[in-house]
Amino acid sequence: MAEYMIEARNLVKYYYLDNFKIAKSKIRVLHAVDHVSFNIEKGEIFGVIGESGSGKSTIGKCILRMIEADEGDIFFDNENISRLNSKQMKARRRNMQMIFQNPLASFNPKMTIGKAFYELGHVYHMKTQEVTKKIRELLNYINLDEDVLSRLPKEISGGQLQRLAIARALMLEPKFLLADEPVSALDVSVQAQILNLLFELKEKRGYTILFISHDLTVVRNVCDHVAVVYLGVIVETGPVCEVYNNLLHPYTQALLSAKPKEHPLEQKERMILEGDIPNAINVKEGCRFASRCPKFREGLCDNRTPKLRDAGNGHFVACHYALPSDVLD
Ligand SMILES: Nc1ncnc2c1ncn2[C@@H]1O[C@H](COP(=O)(O)OP(=O)(O)OP(=O)(O)O)[C@@H](O)[C@H]1O
Ligand SMILES: [Mg+2]
Repeated sequence: MAEYMIEARNLVKYYYLDNFKIAKSKIRVLHAVDHVSFNIEKGEIFGVIGESGSGKSTIGKCILRMIEADEGDIFFDNENISRLNSKQMKARRRNMQMIFQNPLASFNPKMTIGKAFYELGHVYHMKTQEVTKKIRELLNYINLDEDVLSRLPKEISGGQLQRLAIARALMLEPKFLLADEPVSALDVSVQAQILNLLFELKEKRGYTILFISHDLTVVRNVCDHVAVVYLGVIVETGPVCEVYNNLLHPYTQALLSAKPKEHPLEQKERMILEGDIPNAINVKEGCRFASRCPKFREGLCDNRTPKLRDAGNGHFVACHYALPSDVLD
C-alpha cells in the first residue's frame, strides 16, 4: 500500500468578484478550484499541469494553507491540517516549504543571502552554529561558493538564486516541497540544472515534491504522477507513463499536440482547439471543456459534468467519450 505525504480531498476555492452590495444573483463567482482530490505518495514528484489561470497555484497554496480553501480537507503525513490554528500550522510548516517561480520572490531584496538563511533558521529556533553548519553543507550541495552569502539577491544570477532558494527551503529539512513553476522564469541553459537538482532531491534524499508546470515535456521527464487541470478541475490523472502513453482526455491530447516538434522530421498531427478560452465564472452543470472540445455532443456534454472514471492502471479521466467503450454517434 502506498503511503501518502499529501491527501487533498474535495478542495474548493471560489473567488467572489463583485461587491456584495449588488444583488446576490449578480455576484460573479470564479471557481478557481472546484472539488479537486488527489494523493501524493511519499518520495515522489507529483506534477500539476494546465494552461495559465487553470488553478494550479491556487491548489498548491491551499495545500500549504497559504490561502484557505472554502471546503475540503488536506492531510499532511496522515494528519488532517485543514483546521489547525496558525500556531499549530507554524510547527507543521517547517516540514512544508515552497519554491517560487521567480527566485527574487523568495528573498527580501534588501537582505543579504546569508542574513536570509540565518533569519529563517532563527524563526525556527535553530542555533547560529547549527545554521552556519547547515549553510556550508547546502552551499556545497548546490555547488556555490560562500561569497554569495554577503551579496544581495539582485547581485546573483537567476539560476544561482533559484538554487539558493531551494537550499534555503532545505535548511529546515522539510518533508515536502512545493515547486510552483520553478524553472519558467529562468534561462533555458540553467533550467536543466534546477530540474536535475529537484530530481536528485527525490532520488537521493527521498523528498516528496509537488511540481507545478505548464511544460508537458518537463513533467514527463521529472514527475511520477501527473494531474491535468482545466478551469479548476482535474480532467485526467495517473502515473506519468500511463497518461503520456495513452492520452485520453481531448484537452490533454490538444495540449500535447500544440507542443512544437522536437525534431523537424517528427510526424505530428496538430489538434487545434476551437472556441475561445472560457473563464471559470459562474460555471454551470456540464463539461468545462465543452466549448472547445472536438468530441462535444449536445445533450450530454453541455448538461452533465463528467466525473473522473477509471481507465485502468491508476489512470483516470473526466470525459463522457474518452474510454474505448464510450460510443460516439
Ligand atoms: N486573489 C484572487 N482574487 C480573484 N481571483 C483570483 C485570485 N487569485 C487567483 N485568482 C483567479 O483564479 C484562477 C486560478 O488562478 P491561479 O493563479 O491558480 O492559476 P494558475 O494555473 O496558477 O495560472 P498561471 O499558470 O498563470 O500561474 C485565475 O482565473 C485567477 O485569475
Ligand atoms: Mg500559477
